[in-house]
Amino acid sequence: MKNLFSVATAMSLWLVMIASAQAAGGNVAAGQAKAAVCAGCHGADGNGGADPLWPKLAGQDAEYIAKQLGDFKSGARKDPIMAGMAAALSKTDMKNIGAYYESLKAKPGAARDAQLAKLGEKTYRGGNAKMGVSACMSCHGPTGHGIPPRFPKVSGQNAAYTNRQLLAFKTGSRTNDGDIMTRIAFRMSEQEIKAVSEYMAGLH
Ligand code: HEC
Ligand code: HEC
Repeated sequence: MKNLFSVATAMSLWLVMIASAQAAGGNVAAGQAKAAVCAGCHGADGNGGADPLWPKLAGQDAEYIAKQLGDFKSGARKDPIMAGMAAALSKTDMKNIGAYYESLKAKPGAARDAQLAKLGEKTYRGGNAKMGVSACMSCHGPTGHGIPPRFPKVSGQNAAYTNRQLLAFKTGSRTNDGDIMTRIAFRMSEQEIKAVSEYMAGLH
């Protein structure tokens, strides 16, 4: 009897723990329902759409996604399309959507220009000491999978999208990064940005 009681207690504790883990981590099914309108651009499987400027979201860290949606809504990150898309989302929606996209499997991308990618690899792995640019790998990881929740996944992303973000950090039109990426990109040349974007597209 005593044993049964402790099993029951343990089980109810366990259920409470699962419930709170879901609350903290977001609900995948609820996120999927909210993300139906996003599929046209980000893909039904989260691996992007017709335009390479529409980022892939599959496998991205849930908290990073929620943060970006909050930033689009508040205007801390500016984009006319995404401002409209995020306007109606609550904080809970953003968490759930994050959990949904994180749960999707990222398809590997590819670098199209091997020579350019080779140049980019140098910056990604070693930085650029002369310019004081840190190795991207130190925060985004050797395979570009990021270090959740602070540092996003950058591997396999469309090169055109990555290139656009790095230029936006460089020119100060994207400033929702707590100063980290703006400082780094500011010191990079446009050629270096193009090369590292090409390299990251093929990272997996
Ligand atoms: C009409 C196309 C379109 C639709 C629909 C759309 N997006 Fe986007 N999304 C974009 C574009 C373009 C960007 C890149 C903006 C930029 O360059 O900063 C983006 C960026 C994002 C990002 C940032 C990704 C990153 O790596 O930083 C997230 C997250 C996102 N969208 C989520 C959503 C969600 C969730 C929905 C649906 C509620 C949605 N999007 C609907 C076009 C779209
Ligand atoms: C000190 C840590 C750090 C280093 C080093 C670093 N990053 Fe980042 N990076 C970040 C953080 C933090 C963000 C997320 C900013 C935000 O919340 O919007 C980010 C975001 C990005 C994004 C935007 C991703 C997206 O989906 O929109 C790209 C692209 C990127 N970094 C590329 C690079 C490249 C290329 C380098 C090397 C030249 C680099 N990073 C070095 C911390 C770092």
